[in-house]
Amino acid sequence: MKAIKNTTDTSSFANEVIKGLSANVKYLPSKFLYDDQGDKLFRSIMKLEEYYPTRCEFEIMQNCKDALLDLFYKEQKPFSLIELGPGDGFKSKVLLKHFAEKNAKFDYVPVDICESVLKDLCSDLEKEIPSLNVNAFCGDYLEALNQASTNGNGVRKVILFMGANIGNFEKNEASKFVSMLGQYMSPDDLLIIGFDLKKDPKMILDAYNDKSGVTKAFNLNMLNRINKELDADFDLSTFEHYPTYDPLTGETKSFLVSQRAQSVNMKAVNAMVSFNSWEPIYMEISKKYSMPEIEELALNSGFKVVHNCFDCRHFFVDSAWQKTF
Ligand SMILES: C[S@@+](CC[C@H](N)C(=O)[O-])C[C@H]1O[C@@H](n2cnc3c(N)ncnc32)[C@H](O)[C@@H]1O
Repeated sequence: MKAIKNTTDTSSFANEVIKGLSANVKYLPSKFLYDDQGDKLFRSIMKLEEYYPTRCEFEIMQNCKDALLDLFYKEQKPFSLIELGPGDGFKSKVLLKHFAEKNAKFDYVPVDICESVLKDLCSDLEKEIPSLNVNAFCGDYLEALNQASTNGNGVRKVILFMGANIGNFEKNEASKFVSMLGQYMSPDDLLIIGFDLKKDPKMILDAYNDKSGVTKAFNLNMLNRINKELDADFDLSTFEHYPTYDPLTGETKSFLVSQRAQSVNMKAVNAMVSFNSWEPIYMEISKKYSMPEIEELALNSGFKVVHNCFDCRHFFVDSAWQKTF
């Protein structure tokens, strides 16, 4: 298996959890949802009837793989395909296999904060596409991208940011994040972002509130992770999963709500956190976009849209951008 370079700072989990649970409005950073168990639960979410985004983006990859190869492999110049948060690579493998079959010259740089998912991805790729050159980085997007780029050899960069992960940023934060990605890019490089589009609000809310309770378990697993890693005593049965969707802003927000007043000890870091009854912890945002909002985000972050790939129902778009200067 290819070596995975780890850029994760182990103390950052404890520090960020304490910061989030000490805030006026309690929150937990959603990137910490993905430990081994969280990754397994997310893979189950992707297969749920209610969770349409995975199927839409898979359809896009299948239907647009030729158009994307034309875009990425312009003038047959080798390129480096850097994927931020690939997870199990279910959808990106459609591209990787197609590009390899077409003998395109490229290497693949997956960057993910979850080490177990990266290890699985690398060993799957070794079996499924043995000719593929893979350099994996484990860590937060920008830290890992920083390291990956210092190893850059001047080849064209194509950055893939799929799965509507961009929706995990609030609007202004999304623009800051994309602008920062731009700092690692040259005018000839490409950025491909997967956006979940605004649609029937009921359909959106159902995707975050499945009947079988997998999304609830996915959110509660974060408390379990804190119990395991920080020797804490969260009683998971006293927290309720509460997702919301606001069709005006396009923001789905997930909360865990404490059903009673209680205190939780985190012994490993010598900290205690108190909850009022019905006090929420803000867990995750998944913002849905309209096409004008996507254009606006590109413009505000120093990019222009060069190509859009939609699924047949226009529920989802993978949008290809280039820097404007
Ligand atoms: C919602 S899943 C999407 C996976 C895949 N892109 C897809 O579309 O199926 C998010 C993935 O991004 C990773 N991730 C989330 N936040 C991250 C961060 N700040 N830095 C690096 N990886 C992150 C998670 O570990 C997970 O594998």
